[in-house]
Amino acid sequence: MAHRHLTDAPPHRRLHVITWGCQMNVYDSARMADVLAPIGYAPTADAGEADMVILNTCHIRDRAAEKVFSELGRLRLLKLARAQAGGRMILAVAGCVAQAEGAEILARAPYVDIVLGPQTYHRLPEMVAQASRAAGAVIDTAFPAEDKFDHLPQAAAPQGLSAFLTIQEGCDKFCSFCVVPYTRGAEQNRPEAAVLAEARRLVAQGAREITLLGQNVNAWHGAGTDGTPASLGRLVRRLADIPDLWRIRYTTSHPRDMDDGLIAAHAEVQQLMPFLHLPVQSGSDRMLAAMNRRHTAADFLRIVARLRAVRPDLALSSDFIVGHPGETRADFEATLALIRQVEFAQAFSFAYSARPGTPAAASPGQVEEAEKAARLQELQALLREQQAAFNQACVGLTVPVLFTGPGRHPGQVGGRSPWLHPVHLTGPASLIGTETRVKIETARTNSLSASLPEQERACA
Ligand code: SAH
Ligand code: SF4
Ligand code: F3S
Repeated sequence: MAHRHLTDAPPHRRLHVITWGCQMNVYDSARMADVLAPIGYAPTADAGEADMVILNTCHIRDRAAEKVFSELGRLRLLKLARAQAGGRMILAVAGCVAQAEGAEILARAPYVDIVLGPQTYHRLPEMVAQASRAAGAVIDTAFPAEDKFDHLPQAAAPQGLSAFLTIQEGCDKFCSFCVVPYTRGAEQNRPEAAVLAEARRLVAQGAREITLLGQNVNAWHGAGTDGTPASLGRLVRRLADIPDLWRIRYTTSHPRDMDDGLIAAHAEVQQLMPFLHLPVQSGSDRMLAAMNRRHTAADFLRIVARLRAVRPDLALSSDFIVGHPGETRADFEATLALIRQVEFAQAFSFAYSARPGTPAAASPGQVEEAEKAARLQELQALLREQQAAFNQACVGLTVPVLFTGPGRHPGQVGGRSPWLHPVHLTGPASLIGTETRVKIETARTNSLSASLPEQERACA
C-alpha cells in the first residue's frame, strides 16, 4: 500500500464555485478557493467536471433562495452522472441561505454533502475530509469563537488589479426588513494591522485599486496599530500611504456612521474615489422610523450636502425599498422627492420582500404585490432618468480610467471610471494595468466608451 508523505503533491481536484449576493460573498468565494487550494483543489469553470461544487448563497430577498434550490436540482443530475461514471462530486451550500435555512436545505435536497455558514469556511478542509469519509451530510453553521480571518491561508490567489478586502462583517443595526444580522451575526471588526497587512499583500500581488468591504463598512472600528480604536477615515489615510495603491473605495455604508473624519478623508485623500454608495431606503421619516434606520431624510440630505461641499465631483449611489409594511402613497412620494433632490448617479431598488424571522415580516400593513410592483416601476423610471443624465454629463470629459482587462470586443480594453462606470476603448493591450486619462465619447445605460487623447495615442 502506498503511503503519502508530507512532501507529496496534493491530489489534483477541481472546484467550481457559484456566487450570489453581495460583494462580500464574492470575496468569501475567493477565500474558500484559497482554503481549499492546499488540499489540491484548483478552480474550473465547468461544473460538469468539478469534484466539488460550492453554491455561495444570498438570503436577502425571496427569489434568491429559490434560485439556490433550482440550481441544486440541476447539480443533482451532474452529481448522479458523475456517480454513474464511478466518480464523486461533493456538493456544498455556503453563505447566508445555508446559515438561515441549513436544516431545510438538507430536507429538500438530501444529496447535499456540506452545509456551512459564512463564519466557518476556514474549516472547509475538515468538512471535506469528513464528507469524503462518511455518508450523510456535514453541517457547520456555528458562530465560532475563533476569528476565521486568523485561520485563512496567507497564500491567496491574486485578485488582479482591482481587489476586495473585507474589514468588517456582520451587523448590529437590525433594520426591520433585513436578514443580515441573523445570517452574518454580530458586527466584527478586523484589527487595523491585519487590514493593512492584507492591503500590502494585495498591492504586492498587483492590485492598484482596493475596495474595503463590510455590511456597515463605515462603522468599522478595528483595534488600531497604536492600541486605540481606529476609524474608517484614519484607515483610508493609512492605506493611501501604501505606494502603488492608486484607488480606494469602500462599501456598504450606513448614513448613521458617516462621521467627520470620513467626510474629511473625502476632501483630502485623492486616492479615495469620488463615488459613494450610501443606502437611504426611503425618503419618508415615518418609514425610516418603521425600518429602524435611526436617521431621517433630512439627516441624509445634510450628509450629502456636506460631502458635496468638500468633494464637488462626488457621485452618489443608494439602495431603496418600496412597499415596506405601512408604506402609503404619500410615503412613497416622499422617496421620489428625495431622489429628485439628490440626483443619484445610479441606485439599486427593490420591492420589499418579507423575510422569515425579521420584525417587518410580522408587521401589519403589508402592501399588495401589485402595488409594490407599480411603485417600483415608477421609482426605477426616475432613477434610470437620473443615471442617463449623469452618464450623458460625462461625455466630452477627460477622465482617468484604471484599465483592468480586455474590452467587450476584439481590439478593446476595459476599465473603470472614478465613478465606477465600466469604460471601453479601442486601444493597445499595453493600457491594461495603467491608469490613463481618456476622453469619454458616448454614454450607454451602464457603460461609457472612450478614446485616447492625441498625445496618449502618440505614446501608445
Ligand atoms: N448593509 C447595507 C445593505 C445590506 S442589503 C445597508 O445597511 O444598507 C442590500 C440592500 O438590500 C439593502 O440596502 C436593501 O435596500 C435591500 N434589502 C434588504 N432586505 C430587503 C428586503 N427584505 N426586501 C427588499 N429589499 C431588501
Ligand atoms: Fe441590514 Fe440594516 Fe444592517 Fe444594512 S444596516 S445590513 S440593511 S440590518
Ligand atoms: Fe446576501 Fe448575505 Fe450578502 S444575505 S447580500 S450574501 S450578507
